Amino acid sequence: VTSPLEQAAARIVEIPDYPEPGVIFRDVMPLLSDAECLRTVVTAMLEPWGGKFDVVAGIEARGFLLAGAAATLANVGLVPIRKAGKLPRPAASVTYTLEYGTAEIEIQDDIAPGTRVLLMDDVLATGGTLGAAVELVRKIGAEPIGSTVLMELTELGGRAVVGDAHDVRSLFVN
Ligand code: PRP
Ligand code: HPA
Repeated sequence: VTSPLEQAAARIVEIPDYPEPGVIFRDVMPLLSDAECLRTVVTAMLEPWGGKFDVVAGIEARGFLLAGAAATLANVGLVPIRKAGKLPRPAASVTYTLEYGTAEIEIQDDIAPGTRVLLMDDVLATGGTLGAAVELVRKIGAEPIGSTVLMELTELGGRAVVGDAHDVRSLFVN
């Protein structure tokens, strides 16, 4: 007999050599496509944070899907953290380092200073994206109270890149 969380984990598919040779891509879409698994993981991702946040922030693109589901479950609003150039009224941007080159993400200041923000994404890998997202939330004067990811790829050391001061919870580790 497997638990609902184990059933959800079993629907994350490992895709070898995507998006490039040598990388094993964790595809969470089969998990999200199942109603029971989606509800189970989003509920569990919210569980440690009850009452501690005012809004969820979803990181493009798969973080949007989790944040959308979570926001309605938790009865809070959501803000998107997007790749640069996609938002009509960017208020802050952060540039961060990738394996090759740099990336930039942006946020709008549609939430008041001091708003307590729970960040959400599907995968924590090298931590560059989540670290930049936390910085971005601070830049608009909001308070990043923590982050919740579906899966942490621990061997890539992303948690250390995000920094000890920021509370990161992962539902599944690999
Ligand atoms: C993936 C993933 C995280 C990030 C994790 O997004 O959804 O946001 O990378 O990697 P990191 O910890 O090494 O920064 P991706 O860049 O593939 O963007 P997408 O969701 O828009 O496809
Ligand atoms: N899946 C989804 N997003 C990712 C991954 C992955 O395996 N690695 C880095 N970002």
